[in-house]
This record gives sequence, C-alpha cells and structure tokens, in this order.
Amino acid sequence: MTAKADRKVLFGGRGDEARTGNILEFEGVSLAFGGVKAVDGVTFHVREGELFSIIGPNGAGKTSIFNCLSGVYKPQEGSVKWRGEQLLGQRPDLIASKGMARTFQNIELFEHMTVIENLMLGRHVRMQSGWVSDMLYVGRTNRDELANRAVVEDIIDFLEIEEWRKYPVALLPYGIQKRVELGRALAMEPELLLLDEPVAGMNLEETEDMARFILDIRFELGIAMILVEHDMGLVMDIADRIMVLDFGQKIAEGTPDEVSANPAVIKAYLGEEV
Ligand SMILES: Nc1ncnc2c1ncn2[C@@H]1O[C@H](COP(=O)(O)OP(=O)(O)OP(=O)(O)O)[C@@H](O)[C@H]1O
Ligand SMILES: [Mg+2]
Repeated sequence: MTAKADRKVLFGGRGDEARTGNILEFEGVSLAFGGVKAVDGVTFHVREGELFSIIGPNGAGKTSIFNCLSGVYKPQEGSVKWRGEQLLGQRPDLIASKGMARTFQNIELFEHMTVIENLMLGRHVRMQSGWVSDMLYVGRTNRDELANRAVVEDIIDFLEIEEWRKYPVALLPYGIQKRVELGRALAMEPELLLLDEPVAGMNLEETEDMARFILDIRFELGIAMILVEHDMGLVMDIADRIMVLDFGQKIAEGTPDEVSANPAVIKAYLGEEV
C-alpha cells in the first residue's frame, strides 16, 4: 500500500496549491447535426481545480459538449480555450496530451485486457503524441516502464481496486468497471477530467463510493472536473457550480442552491414529468 503522502508526490501535489483563474473557456459554441442544434451558443468557464457540473434532460447536448471539448466534434461556431490556447481544430490526441481526459457514457475499456493493462494504456496515450514523446520513446528504457507501472499501481490503490488488478475487465462487476475507466483517465494525469454519467446504472452503495472518489480527486489530487450526471442528489451534493442545458441552450448557471431555486430550471425538469 502506498501512503497518501507519496500519492500526492506522484500527482504533483496539486491539491495543496491555491490556484485561481480559468483552465477552460468555452465561448459561444454552436454545433448542429443537419437541422438539430445539439449545442446552441453555449458559454461557460471552468476554474482551476473546481468541480463544475452540466445537467439537463436527455438530448440536451451534454455529451456533445464533451465531444466538442475533446476534439471529436468540430463546432460550426465559437471558441474553446485551454489556458488561453485555442483548442478548436486540434487533433483529439493532442488535446488529450495537454491534460484533458474523459470517461464515457458507455464504458469504453478493452474488456479482454486486465485492469493493469487498461491503465497502462492510459499512460501511453498521455505520452504518445507529438515529437517530444517520440523523442522520449526512442531509447525508452525499462525504467520508464517501471515508473509508469508505479503510477498505475498508485491509482489502483487510490481507487481501491487492488483485488481486481489482474482480472480481465469483462469479468468485473459493472460498478468496478466504471471505476477502472476512471482509473484509465487518471493514468493520463489530467488537469481536467470529463466525467460522462459516472454513476449511471449504479446502485446506492456503488454511487456513494464513486462520489467519495470524485471528492478525493477534487480535494486530494486537485484535478478540475466537468461532471455530467442525471443523479441530481449527487450533483447537488458535490458540485461547486452547475450549468443547466435544455435543447442545446444554457438556461441557468450557479451554485447548487441558486440553480435549484431557478424557475427556468424547475420548469425544464417539471415540464418533463407532466
Ligand atoms: N453524431 C450525431 N449525429 C446526429 N445527431 C447527434 C449526434 N450526436 C448527438 N446528436 C443529437 O444532438 C442532440 C444532443 O445529444 P447529446 O448526446 O449531446 O445529449 P445528452 O445531453 O448527452 O443526452 P443524454 O442525457 O441522453 O446522454 C440530440 O438531439 C442528439 O440526437
Ligand atoms: Mg449524453
């Protein structure tokens, strides 16, 4: 078992630093598929180290925003800046190498590979883009691999999945698979994590475990997150700020208290049930 103090060294101890400013500026972004405006002139900013949540009914555009951020979709309008640098037009692997990692609404792991192997892939994705890492790869030594392995073992310890580490992912319970996917994203040592419905389909106990890990990532590792989630209880409990989307448009933004008292939000949600 690795002590918590060591873990902070591996992750740069970012949780202890007081940081200010925006890590991400998403400005006036629009994305249409034919006649459907999946994202319609949306603006939001994510601050260093904060837990920012995006909520909204099915089809509101939440996953589309993640795809715009990670470079999978190309918005027709707007700007996406990472610490002031324009990301639009950059390749997804280059964007990932800047420090943005994600988990998916439907788990995307190599299910016949073990937990350790999936996490090691996360390390390689982090390093495998651009000439700097090409140079690092030339003459790659056993030591690099051992260092990667040490980070992976640390993450396994952090997420409390030691007992599963040598199992193929396909054999793991669903809640543990979701945790492994989070681990794969953490293995990229991100500064911003995009979590697309991390507790979807989980029972209460699994949800509480995941909430605890998300809070540890926020406070212990100091990693900023965008949390997309339908579980309102979870979002209201742990988010610093929340943006609410409806039909591709932002209808509200604020603290959990502000958002839950906002008439437009109440209408969007109650409107669904009527
Ligand atoms: N690749 C695509 N091709 C065509 N339409 C798409 C595509 N991706 C998303 N859309 C449409 O864009 C809109 C927003 O979809 P998106 O998946 O972003 O919603 P969401 O908020 O993530 O919903 P959910 O809560 O159900 O996951 C929907 O109308 C969807 O059908
Ligand atoms: Mg979605």
